[in-house]
Amino acid sequence: EKQGYPHFMLKEIHEQPQAIADTLLARTDPDGRIVLDELRFDGADLRSADKVYVVACGTSYHAGLVAKHAIEHWAGIGVEVEIASEFRYRDPILTPHTIVVAISQSGETTDTIAAAAHARDQRARVVAISNVVGSTLTREADAVLYTRAGPEIAVASTKAFTTQIAALGVLALFLAQERRKLFPEECRDQLARLEQLPELMEQVLEADGHLAELAERIARADYVMFIGRHNGVPIALEGALKLKEISYLHAEGFPAGEMKHGPIALIDSGGPVIAIATRGHVHSKVVSNIQEVKARGAEVTAIATEGDTAVKEHADHVVYVPEVHELLYPILTVLPLQAIAYHAAVLLGRDVDQPRNLAKTVTVE
Ligand code: F6R
Repeated sequence: EKQGYPHFMLKEIHEQPQAIADTLLARTDPDGRIVLDELRFDGADLRSADKVYVVACGTSYHAGLVAKHAIEHWAGIGVEVEIASEFRYRDPILTPHTIVVAISQSGETTDTIAAAAHARDQRARVVAISNVVGSTLTREADAVLYTRAGPEIAVASTKAFTTQIAALGVLALFLAQERRKLFPEECRDQLARLEQLPELMEQVLEADGHLAELAERIARADYVMFIGRHNGVPIALEGALKLKEISYLHAEGFPAGEMKHGPIALIDSGGPVIAIATRGHVHSKVVSNIQEVKARGAEVTAIATEGDTAVKEHADHVVYVPEVHELLYPILTVLPLQAIAYHAAVLLGRDVDQPRNLAKTVTVE
């Protein structure tokens, strides 16, 4: 059932536009208001909420880090994102006005289920974001929002991640609508922008050829560094996680502004650095960080916005993605990073769909 693809991971990478379209389907009423019937929260609950915690593991945690920016910006509510295995053993300050969003593709990850239970014990309201209808997490939550990615077989998560970001985007807009932080037409505009993503994702996925060449250079490296700022940070973390899990190369992601505080010491002549450098309010800051690593000998690949020719003067390679609203870039910028990880793993002869030491669902601590 790989439908002609050599690996499930590649098939799932290419299924992402459809998966996002499915996840966004029928989320509005005839007046264009967002309706999340599945959520069963009433407006009053959402209006009185004063804090959001997001808990998850691995790639799902990175989706939470992306969503923090959208929820804070659109819904005007503070968001903390935390690794579920940490949250469950902590004493977070939770009240009936706290919303805890637990994200799990499988809905069976032990630590995420335990984190949600920990939150419910303290009377916080738990929203599950999951891809599996009726999974344990969804049964233990007060409300559920489903991603509609279809079954994800490859251990390395791809379409689950982007659909989580899309679902969380809708949740952010729903919170903004119910809390009256955005005008109805602003909500509609933002939702329409989300709905344009599948087409733009297709464009990015079609430009894959050049990435296989880039992956060849990456596959020869001892160490690969990913940097970004703002919502590019979780994409840097995710790019590094994807690469390490399936190629076994040593990779790390950092907030670009942290480089001077330590990680820049790792930069060596010719060492690859992948920088998320799309347009937005931190663009010039990322470009400065690119110059800093270049000056120390790094070979830089920038993921940038189409038409940004200036970035070419500083980076050795540029991968372009179409221009979108600043908060929506992660769904596009992660695509070339997934492809680079995939091609590097294939070149190195790794077992792409079943990497060593990893299980698709982590039902133990
Ligand atoms: C990485 C990956 C894992 C999962 C993590 C959480 O590619 O797949 O990091 O994201 O184990 O799994 P779920 O979302 O099922 O709770």
